[in-house]
Amino acid sequence: MKNFYRLIQGDCLKMLPTFDDESVDLIFTDPPYEAKTKKVIGDVEGIDWNVLSKELSRILKSDGSLLMFCPIVNLPKFIKIGEGVRPFRWQIIEYVCNRMQSISNFYLQYNPILWFSNHTIKPQKRVQDLFRTTIIPNAIHPAQKNLETCKFIVDNFSRVNGIFLDPLMGSGTVMEACQDLRRNCIGIEIDANNCESIRTRCFGRQFLDREVSYSFEVFGG
Ligand SMILES: C[S@@+](CC[C@H](N)C(=O)[O-])C[C@H]1O[C@@H](n2cnc3c(N)ncnc32)[C@H](O)[C@@H]1O
Repeated sequence: MKNFYRLIQGDCLKMLPTFDDESVDLIFTDPPYEAKTKKVIGDVEGIDWNVLSKELSRILKSDGSLLMFCPIVNLPKFIKIGEGVRPFRWQIIEYVCNRMQSISNFYLQYNPILWFSNHTIKPQKRVQDLFRTTIIPNAIHPAQKNLETCKFIVDNFSRVNGIFLDPLMGSGTVMEACQDLRRNCIGIEIDANNCESIRTRCFGRQFLDREVSYSFEVFGG
C-alpha cells in the first residue's frame, strides 16, 4: 500500500474545518508552550483551544486517540483541552535522563504525554508507561521532540497504514516517525521556516519497501 505525507503551511484553526468528519485515526501533537518561549515556538494563549478541541473531536474517528505532549506547568489546562476531544485515559512519561535544564529550582527531567480516547481502546500490546531517552543534540527547532519517543507512541497506539494528524507540527518529528513505521501523516505548521525544515527533513525520503507520495500546500496562499 502506498503511504502519503501531506504538509500544509497555515493556521490549523482555519485549515481544520476543511477536513472531513472522522477522517483521521490518531492525532499526535505538541502544543506551543507559554511564557518565556512564546516568541520562538508560538503563543499558547493565541490559540482558541475550544475551537481546536471541537475540530479535533469531529475529525478523529470514534475509535481514534489523541496523544499530546504537555509542559508540566500546563498540566491542568492541557487535560481540560484534551477532554474536549476524548476522555482522559493515561499519562505516559518521557524520561529525559541527561537533561539538566531547570525551572523554579526543579530539573526538568520528564515530559508528560497525555492520552485521550474512548474507554474501549487499548494500546496495541502491553506497554510500559515510561520511555527513557536523552536530550537531542543539534535540534533544528526549540521545542523539537525525540524521534525515538515519537516512534514509541506511533508504534503502540496505531496500526500500520493508519492516518495521523499533527496540527502543530514544528520541525516534523511526528511525520518522520510515521514514515519510519509505515503510517500516513498530515502535518500543519504556521511558520514558513519550520515548513521548510520539515520538507528538508522528510520530503524526498525514499523507501525500498513501498511507494510514497508527498504534497505541500500553503493554505490560503
Ligand atoms: C511545540 S512546537 C512543536 C514541536 C515538534 N514537536 C517538534 O518535534 O519539532 C509547536 C508548533 O506549533 C506551531 N503553531 C503555533 N500556532 C499554530 C497554528 N495556529 N497553526 C499551526 N501551527 C501553529 C508553532 O509554530 C510551533 O512550531
